This record gives sequence, structure tokens and C-alpha cells, in this order.
Amino acid sequence: MTHLRVAIDGPAGAGKSTVAKKVAEKLGLIYIDTGAMYRAVTWKAIKSGIPPTDEKKITQLASSIHISFQSSDNQQKVYADGVDVTEQIRSAEVTGNVSKISAIPGVRARLVELQREMAQTRGVVMDGRDIGTFVLPDAEVKIFLTASLEERARRRTEELSNKGIQADPVEILKSIARRDEMDSTRDLAPLKKADDARIIDTTGLSIPEVVDRIVTICHDYI
Ligand code: C5P
Repeated sequence: MTHLRVAIDGPAGAGKSTVAKKVAEKLGLIYIDTGAMYRAVTWKAIKSGIPPTDEKKITQLASSIHISFQSSDNQQKVYADGVDVTEQIRSAEVTGNVSKISAIPGVRARLVELQREMAQTRGVVMDGRDIGTFVLPDAEVKIFLTASLEERARRRTEELSNKGIQADPVEILKSIARRDEMDSTRDLAPLKKADDARIIDTTGLSIPEVVDRIVTICHDYI
């Protein structure tokens, strides 16, 4: 397996995980969804009744949680302390709190350490907010994936609707904008394009088109 490291960053709802997963499949690399790791810590904090303001307890929780990914039937499952939390970490409650939890320095330190370990011995496609700028600054390929706020809100609303969840598109747009604002303005490793990342604006592009563009870029490094 090639030891290529592909960093895909960008704002919420830009299609990072869908695209990253397919790029990883095509190139035979491991896909690592770092957002799911911050969501797993958030899920556990909520489940344990720890408020996002209690940085000390949340840092302790992050240092002891065991997070793992398992692939089966083309789907990647996320486990937190042995519990399958794949669905639960996508809940509105987790989504509404994750940016507060991910701004806690102790949480970031622990998860970044795990992410770097995961990429040490294997080729990876890693998606998140700070992969190209902070987690893997030496990644061979860096992509900043974006789309207009309206397009991202439309996609998220459609995705929920496909799951049978009716959501107010205006509320979705506001919640995405709020999360982007918090993620881009936090002190530590904020959401930001790495200087050497290539921007792909996915507004008006299909998923296969975006995947093909990234795979073509990667071929220059394999
Ligand atoms: O990618 P996803 O939308 O699932 O990420 C959820 C949240 O996790 C983000 O809004 C952000 O607060 C946090 N995150 C982060 N750094 C990453 C990945 C995600 O702070 N590398």
C-alpha cells in the first residue's frame, strides 16, 4: 500500500466525508473521519452529563475514550468505548455541541495525537478542519473543499430528508453558518485553508467529478 497522505479540509457540509471515502477506496488508502472523533467525544460528554463548559472533565474524558473505525459493507462504523455510535454522533444534539467541545485544548491535543499515530504507518485520506494546516502539515496532497453556504444547506436538508427527517432549511443554514463561525475563529488550529492546499469549489459539481479531480491530483504522487 502506498504511504500517500491526503488531507481534505473545509467547512461543514462541503461533502468532505463522502468524497474522502471514495478517494480512499479508489486509491486503496485508509479513510479517517476526524470530525467523527470530535463527535464521539461530544456524544460521550452528553451521555455522561458533563457540560461543554467543564473543560477539565471533558479533557479527562478525551484522554480515556477509545475511538475506533471499522469498515463493513461499504459503510464505516464508528465505535466509542466499544459502542457503535455511528448514528448517534450525527444527532442534532451532538452537532449543536461539537464545536464547543472541539475548541477545548486538551481534547484537540489528544485527538491530534491519535490522528497522527493513525497516519504514521499507513497511507490515509483524512478529512477535517486542520489536517493540512496542523495534523499532517507534510501531507503530499492537500485539498480545501468548499461550496456556497446555500448549496451546503440544501445538500444537508436533502440528506436528512432522505433519512426521513424533515428539517427546516433556514435552520439548517443557520446552524451550518454558526458551526463554521466557531470553527474558523477558535484560537487553536482553526478551520483555514493551508497555503499549499488546492481549492475545489464543489458547487455545481457531481460527487464523481470531485472524486476524479482529487484522484488525478493524487496520481502525480504515486
Ligand atoms: O466533519 P464534521 O462536520 O463531522 O465535524 C464536526 C465538528 O468537529 C466540526 O464542526 C468541528 O468543530 C470539529 N472538527 C475539528 N477538527 C477536525 C474535524 C472536526 O475541530 N479536524
